[in-house]
Amino acid sequence: MTRIAKVKLPVFQPILGSEETYYYRNKLEFTFSCARWLTEDEIGKEDLGSMNALGFHVPGRFDKILPVDHCYLQPDPSNTIRNGVRDFAEANGISYYELKNQKEGALRNLIIRNTVTNEWMVTVQFAYVTEEEINLVMEYLKSTFPMITSLNYVINQKGNDTFHDLEVVCYHGKAFMVETMEDLKFQIGPKSFFQTNAKQALKLYQLVREYADLQGNEVVYDLYTGTGTIGLFLAKHATKVVGLEYVEMAVEDARINAELNGIKNATFFAGDMKKVLTEEFIAIHGAPDVIITDPPRAGMDVDVVNQILAVQPKKIVYVSCNPATQARDLALLDVAYEVDVVHPVDMFPQTHHVENIVRLILKS
Ligand SMILES: C[S@@+](CC[C@H](N)C(=O)[O-])C[C@H]1O[C@@H](n2cnc3c(N)ncnc32)[C@H](O)[C@@H]1O
Repeated sequence: MTRIAKVKLPVFQPILGSEETYYYRNKLEFTFSCARWLTEDEIGKEDLGSMNALGFHVPGRFDKILPVDHCYLQPDPSNTIRNGVRDFAEANGISYYELKNQKEGALRNLIIRNTVTNEWMVTVQFAYVTEEEINLVMEYLKSTFPMITSLNYVINQKGNDTFHDLEVVCYHGKAFMVETMEDLKFQIGPKSFFQTNAKQALKLYQLVREYADLQGNEVVYDLYTGTGTIGLFLAKHATKVVGLEYVEMAVEDARINAELNGIKNATFFAGDMKKVLTEEFIAIHGAPDVIITDPPRAGMDVDVVNQILAVQPKKIVYVSCNPATQARDLALLDVAYEVDVVHPVDMFPQTHHVENIVRLILKS
């Protein structure tokens, strides 16, 4: 902040720590590979046993997977489910994906998600698979883990693991989970984004609400709204909330969540921020009194910063997962805004990452 922003800064609030420093994530994605990563001791040995691995990518190696026996990031039964699928596949000769050539292998990846309210969603990605193999794996999961409330699979033979453009089949249970935050409910489908540390996300949103300090008569813009969580969190304290987001499907989720919670004063629009947040758009939807902005790691586009400077909301609450780009943007906003709060929140214990809340007030 000091080195890059070079703006006048208040004394920072201490980092808000996470109560849970292990088992705090609500989503993990494990990859199957028939070419596991070899440890230094193993290199050169003749009998290496099975070369299959189910675990995480080795940094910088798209084709090498480090097998995981116990992951300290997600609560159980995450570990039991992953190891169960691994052992079941080995015992039944179900093949693992060939990551390098991408032309063979049945099991591709395994996504395990959960909510604070203890719903569990498991999505299995298959690649080159028979119907019999799908049924075997899905029946195993269904009968062994009754706590799974949403069991899904996808067949993906594309060059990458993303499946937003593929059909997800709900094999058993509901097609989504429902997360609860205070009195709000959020529907989360297999393709939906949701903050991965939900308990700490709640604290982050509570701080955003505190710093937005709404009086009930403001128009609030929630830029980079994702599935609308912050906007919906603030809606009952504002006249109107306008959420903007690039990903069309996230916007659909935001609208579903508004309806699910009976929120009628929040509207959501999809598009690239610098193209959507225009003078015309603002003329139609009303000038914002308060802007909440939570951009991706790259920070805000300079056109977006300029549009904010042109419309001059009284207050900006800027949430960032990359304080370096945030500092760059604060330098640009310095012509009209003064920073009066800096409050980091630890969303990802055991990593160097930090989420940073900055409040900016329009200079008089
Ligand atoms: C850090 S996330 C915000 C998450 C959300 N505020 C929440 O708490 O769940 C950043 C969001 O910005 C969206 N995004 C990235 N680039 C964008 C752009 N150029 N225009 C609009 N939205 C964009 C991403 O799709 C993502 O949902």
